[in-house]
Amino acid sequence: MDGNGRWATARGLPRSDGHREGVRVLRRIIEALGARNIPIASFYAFSTENWKRSPAEVKSIFGLVEELSDGYLSRDTDYVVNFFGDIDALPQAVKKSVAEAREKTKNNRGMIVNIMLNYGGKDEIVRAAQKLALSGGEFNEKNLAANLYTGYLPDPDMIVRTAGEKRLSNFMTFQSAYSELLFLDKYWPDVTDKDIDAAISEYRRRRRTFGK
Ligand code: IPE
Ligand code: MG
Repeated sequence: MDGNGRWATARGLPRSDGHREGVRVLRRIIEALGARNIPIASFYAFSTENWKRSPAEVKSIFGLVEELSDGYLSRDTDYVVNFFGDIDALPQAVKKSVAEAREKTKNNRGMIVNIMLNYGGKDEIVRAAQKLALSGGEFNEKNLAANLYTGYLPDPDMIVRTAGEKRLSNFMTFQSAYSELLFLDKYWPDVTDKDIDAAISEYRRRRRTFGK
């Protein structure tokens, strides 16, 4: 979900307004994906590198995550909500609301919604390697993958990045090996249901060979 800041700046608004609009669009897009029977959707909300932003901006992002988690994500839907990342290092209030959303939705049966929060793909691989070493398991791809945050989930079929940047920026570094990539030339707050339909059509046109 890239481009909240630029979306706001282009309108003469503070960056925090862009993040607020970004959350509004996130809710819409979760609904759109659910309505299209997408089984799993993961959203990059805050990276291990985003701490380099101003304390005010970081605070505004965490405030919005808390609101989203306490409100929309904990609401009476059928979604299973996960937060993947170094959650322990987050402010107490965020930790609490994240834990509650997880707990409230864990027995649901609907779309799995993963929010990557204080997440870094490289950090995730290091943690997985540490866990695997401690467990004494054999070092191989399968065992390393099983120790990632997403260990029990399939790799993403498609990864979509908005706002024109053509890189993954530490998103699902291990899991993205064979993901189809799609880069949209619009800011995250400008993404609509039509873009979801177009992305699904695009995915269907791709030919996946996995090296075969
Ligand atoms: C994405 O929007 C949201 C987060 C990383 C929290 P940005 O904040 O990266 O917006 P730009 O890239 O500065 O426009
Ligand atoms: Mg950005």
